[in-house]
Amino acid sequence: MCEPVHYRIDYEINPWMRRANAVRTERANAQWRGLRETLTALGVEVELVEQGTDTPDMTFTANAGVVVGERFIPANFRFPERQLEEGRFTDWFETHGYRIETVHEPHFWEGEGDVLPADGAVFAGYRFRTEFRALDHIDELLGRETVRLELTDPRFYHLDTCLAPLGGGRGLFYPLAFTEASQKALKEHFPTLIAVSERDAARFACNAVLAGETVVLNTGCGETVRALRDHGFAVAETPMDEFIKAGGSVKCLVLMLDAFREFDGRGRP
Ligand code: ARG
Repeated sequence: MCEPVHYRIDYEINPWMRRANAVRTERANAQWRGLRETLTALGVEVELVEQGTDTPDMTFTANAGVVVGERFIPANFRFPERQLEEGRFTDWFETHGYRIETVHEPHFWEGEGDVLPADGAVFAGYRFRTEFRALDHIDELLGRETVRLELTDPRFYHLDTCLAPLGGGRGLFYPLAFTEASQKALKEHFPTLIAVSERDAARFACNAVLAGETVVLNTGCGETVRALRDHGFAVAETPMDEFIKAGGSVKCLVLMLDAFREFDGRGRP
């Protein structure tokens, strides 16, 4: 995670961002600390990377890349506004003993924002940020074919804004953010797929993190919370509105350091 000490809306690179809609810094920091405390209380160990003054979106660490065992595969950000983050994240991983493996330019891809593991498979979203062709490199580096999902709604421009894998064949998704073929692919892979309403999707209900059997998500997603409880999950709601101003919520603020561990053997089980 990255404490949002220099978090601001300096530019507009997704439909949520409005420069006029300034971040309330104290409130954003309090919300971020609330999330961190919620995760820590659930047993998650949090490592911190320092935000640069010139990288206001760096607090959204999910986009840094993906961590596969001892390897770090850094993102190639689509927008120049975020490209300065690449060096900062890579430095952190180098300092912490990771081997860096890059996805060759010029293909854009944005890390765990668009590439998520679930139940032994890997799901990859493309179109708005990650390019289809970049996923060839990802497949090679992971030693397996990702399930490629085409995104359709610019509000849900990263896969983690419209899909949350929750283990055991379960997941949350916002169907209309995907093409019909991709919705079908998701239904084939997840025996239990909870469809989120547009209202809750717009409150980033799918941008959730699973810690044990607890789903951590933004406040105000009542229907989704009820559906999750019906499926046996515990739920922790934590306010994220200062981050939704930039088009992110719980999951965007977290990069999972152990999520891809099982793919470290390059496809070997
Ligand atoms: N303002 C950031 C951007 O547009 C938000 C990133 C949200 N991250 C995510 N994993 N969905 O790039």
